[in-house]
Amino acid sequence: MKTFSLSCMVRLACIAAALHLAGCTDAQKGAEQDPEMAPLRHGWVDEQEMASLEDDLGVWPSYGRTYSEQRFSPASKINAANVSRLGLSWYFDLDTSRGQEATPLIVDGVIYLSTAWSMVKAIDARTGDLIWSYDPEVPRKTLVKACCDAVNRGVALWKGRVYVGSLDGRLIALDAKDGSVAWSVRTTDAGKPYTITGAPRVIKGRVIIGNSGAEYGVRGYISAYDAESGELDWRFYTTPSKDGKPEGAASDSTLAMTYPTWSKGGVWRETGGGGTVWDAMAYDPELDLLYVGTGNGGPWNREIRSPGGGDNLFISSILALRPDTGDYVWHYQTTPGDSWDYTATQHIILADLEMNGAVRKVLMQAPKNGFFYVLDRETGEFLSAEPFAPINWASHIDANGRPVENPMARYPETGKDWTAMPGPPGAHNWNPMAFNPDTGLVYIPQQEVGFVYTPEADFEVRDRGFNLGVIHPHLPDDAALVNQIGKTLKGALIAWDPVLQKEAWRHQYPGPGNGGVLTTAGNLVFQGAAGGELHAFAADTGELLWSAPAGTGVIAPPISYELDGEQYIAWLVGWGGAFPLAAGEMSFLSGKVVNASRLLVFKLGGGKELPESPSFPEPAIVSHNVTPVLAQAKAGERKYTQYCGMCHGDSAVSGGVIADLRASGAIADEEVWKSIVLDGALSGLGMVSFASELSEEDAEEIRAYVLSRAASSIDRNEAQPAQ
Ligand code: HEC
Repeated sequence: MKTFSLSCMVRLACIAAALHLAGCTDAQKGAEQDPEMAPLRHGWVDEQEMASLEDDLGVWPSYGRTYSEQRFSPASKINAANVSRLGLSWYFDLDTSRGQEATPLIVDGVIYLSTAWSMVKAIDARTGDLIWSYDPEVPRKTLVKACCDAVNRGVALWKGRVYVGSLDGRLIALDAKDGSVAWSVRTTDAGKPYTITGAPRVIKGRVIIGNSGAEYGVRGYISAYDAESGELDWRFYTTPSKDGKPEGAASDSTLAMTYPTWSKGGVWRETGGGGTVWDAMAYDPELDLLYVGTGNGGPWNREIRSPGGGDNLFISSILALRPDTGDYVWHYQTTPGDSWDYTATQHIILADLEMNGAVRKVLMQAPKNGFFYVLDRETGEFLSAEPFAPINWASHIDANGRPVENPMARYPETGKDWTAMPGPPGAHNWNPMAFNPDTGLVYIPQQEVGFVYTPEADFEVRDRGFNLGVIHPHLPDDAALVNQIGKTLKGALIAWDPVLQKEAWRHQYPGPGNGGVLTTAGNLVFQGAAGGELHAFAADTGELLWSAPAGTGVIAPPISYELDGEQYIAWLVGWGGAFPLAAGEMSFLSGKVVNASRLLVFKLGGGKELPESPSFPEPAIVSHNVTPVLAQAKAGERKYTQYCGMCHGDSAVSGGVIADLRASGAIADEEVWKSIVLDGALSGLGMVSFASELSEEDAEEIRAYVLSRAASSIDRNEAQPAQ
């Protein structure tokens, strides 16, 4: 069966190649053995391919399509004039019900994608049939180290192999032909709270991979592995060694610069200081520079992390490195001495822009802190920055490229609460933006989500849950107030002119957390919404030209490619990620959506119907004849927020991805509750034991809090009392 479908694909690939006068001419390694036919290039991507993508409409070979990460497709058969005829061509159901954040890749008619739990699939783009699938069997207990769901943002392809970073910290190379494992290496210390959610990139035969975990307590770094053998080539730490001494790493040469920016005491020496490289990378082959974005400081609160201050290099920074050696070339820190989780890991785009009469090679980023940055990518010189969203932590960026801060924003130093815009979700998060060279505009999934930072006076490093140095706020038990807070949260797709540094147009959504973006030569911009709608806009004017239901919330960006003369838009959909896990009732702002994880593929005139999605599983909250002790419930409130809220939802209201504890039978039974929370009875499902952090009394307090939340939900008629 498989052999038949493969040789059939080979034939089609060659017909397509003859039509396009491209590909299928050079004999490549790993080819099918039919001498009559040119070989199928299983996942074949190399330097030559990456250098000639402009006219190669049939491929999306790397995360941002090109090394410049513009997410611009040169295909234009689907365009502003005909996009209203776009319809579903086929779909593929995924075997996971967690958030889907990945960018699918396509080479030679085969789609390679990763899903939640770092699983990988190869799918025949002509038939929609599965060719192979690979499951790295990530232990479900890894979830307790992952801030924002079991997500994965994509694979990399290189010379017949597929590379994926697994949530539990492995970098795995698969044979693109059959999904068998070529090699697998551990890239993180399994004893530490590291995870991997980002997509690898391959540059000149080296696989570049970062990691996450700065909320929990890790030291950020980026590594390069030999694509062929899996051997470690170099590693660059984004924060200094704790004694400022060299450690045989590529970052050693920067110690004289970084070490003095950290205090001699502080928790950073214990936890590593953060600065994780969890998402953005880009590469300029001409300058031979690899650009990476680094994450927040850990703990967030600088007075705990690095008492007495300091910029804390290289947290919240953009780094330019040599891809062969990891050697440092330049850096630019977007948020010196970060205390707000203002990561600079957001998508980096490279472009050549005409500014003041000269063409500049620039790097653009819209990080969490709300400023849109344009830098000279050769030197790192600051060119301009303006806010692309409402912000109150800084008034502007001065001529030297340094933010002019609002002194009240420094809550660790003032010791007072700080009501911030934006909060930790950022004015823009990982959801990729896109640049269209025809319009000169950058399309940004922008959002407005405020937050109150309360410094945590009695901070101690914990081995379960977040280590922030901030007492996490939570929604009040007052429907009117929750409603009011909800009105302050917003989301939009904005078109940003990077030269004029101003907004060109916007499309407003009811809530934040909307999907990544694709733009095309058909004068189009595609974006899916958290509420489950797929959209296409005119790239120049922002006019909404097409909409279709996705059957689930959308966070991932789509891709486009041509196959056998037809243009397609392919999209991974599936609600999840940080928002529905942590935001409680706020995750319903865009509407209540379920997770229905799929790959959706559209073409002009496509007429396939999507099966109807199940309705949102309203939690069946029943009253139990247990009245929680008020003082106990009060004590449990902060503990719930500290240890449970990031998965079961703010104020014990679940966004529908993980169990709503108000509706759990376990809250009525002390023993069952203990067996789950302290003894790890459900650890196989990802609900680990919290015994290292919580006593029996703590667990009882949390139970009392959840019982009180269940009771007040019933009072508010959110649920039916038990008969
Ligand atoms: C890292 C994510 C995560 C954290 C943090 C977490 N849980 Fe869970 N919890 C899960 C998952 C996953 C399940 C399995 C059920 C599911 O997937 O919905 C679960 C299930 C449960 C259940 C059983 C629910 C049922 O189906 O009846 C209880 C009770 C529970 N958790 C209590 C807690 C408490 C109390 C805390 C804080 C001390 C906590 N959990 C923290 C992920 C988490």
